[in-house]
Amino acid sequence: MNPSTAPATLAWIGDSCGYLELIDQTLLPGELTHLACRDVETVWEAIKSLRVRGAPAIGVAAAYGVCVGVQPALDADEAAFFARLNEVCDYLATSRPTAVNLFWALDRMRTKGLSLRGSLLPREVAAGLLVEAQKIEAEDRLMCRAIGRHGAALLQDGQGVLTHCNAGGLATSDYGTALAVFFAAHEGGKRLHVYADETRPLLQGARLTAWELQQRGIEVTLICDSMAAQVMREGRVSAVVTGADRIAANGDAANKIGTYGVALLAAAHDIPFYVAAPTSTFDMSIADGGQIPIEQRDPREITHGFGRSTAPEGVQVYNPAFDVTPARLIKAIICEHGVIEPVTREAIAAVVQQE
Ligand code: MRU
Repeated sequence: MNPSTAPATLAWIGDSCGYLELIDQTLLPGELTHLACRDVETVWEAIKSLRVRGAPAIGVAAAYGVCVGVQPALDADEAAFFARLNEVCDYLATSRPTAVNLFWALDRMRTKGLSLRGSLLPREVAAGLLVEAQKIEAEDRLMCRAIGRHGAALLQDGQGVLTHCNAGGLATSDYGTALAVFFAAHEGGKRLHVYADETRPLLQGARLTAWELQQRGIEVTLICDSMAAQVMREGRVSAVVTGADRIAANGDAANKIGTYGVALLAAAHDIPFYVAAPTSTFDMSIADGGQIPIEQRDPREITHGFGRSTAPEGVQVYNPAFDVTPARLIKAIICEHGVIEPVTREAIAAVVQQE
């Protein structure tokens, strides 16, 4: 697939009275179907149900969700419009707890709205909010390209690499974070062989990562999560790159459940483990990963995955959607400003606080 023909993960259609359209990722790879989100409840449900997912994409979707959400108050007075803006931001913030990009984008939208209060009519504020959401999306596209460029320099021609979950174009506005590193290396003439963990229980690796890599003509082999150790032991991979949902000030990084295990395996096999994420994924307000809220999801994702019961009725289930990889296991963090290595509180602060 030519990158310019990659289907857009999400797009705003029309002016400030328009709507958000997104790929329903729960239907991939079988069906490439778009969902029109014309009210904030539909945006909330799309985030909650992982129709749109991946930390940066959740942030962009939420920003557009604010634009959809304020529409019923366009003709209201100023107080009612701003009450609605707050209500919509608070509501969208309840959709998922772990990816900090969601809260980061909602904060930006709220702040933008407040900066326009007093001088403009509600309709004009709504137009300003749409400009801000479009800016968030445009910045995300640029950040992903920069991450790809910085990360590609870390990989060699002919290398086997492994990734977990999906940190590709579908998880961002375009191009991805961890997969951006592979895409950029591939576009630069480096041949890679990517091992994609299927990523239980929702199979983002099988359904989305394998699909994206295939679309771009990158060699990909799908493995069950439990096979990563054997793949490493056989010497098939010499680097691991994953995305992140929230990175604490000390570099501890939350990502899809199973990532921590992969990082431990990489350490045991002396394989560098890289995290690729934009600065919007850093949460400098928390000292370490112990304070990152971990989303707990419906037990049925494990017992009834993809339509069939695979466990005895009534069994107890534990279903955390994310885990935290300690900074000491991360060789470097690749962000849009460059490569943070070693991963220390000071090195992170120097890069993230330069903004
Ligand atoms: O539950 P998901 O599918 O939203 O989890 C996504 C991940 O864990 C990604 O690796 C992360 O958000 C980084 S996306 C660039």
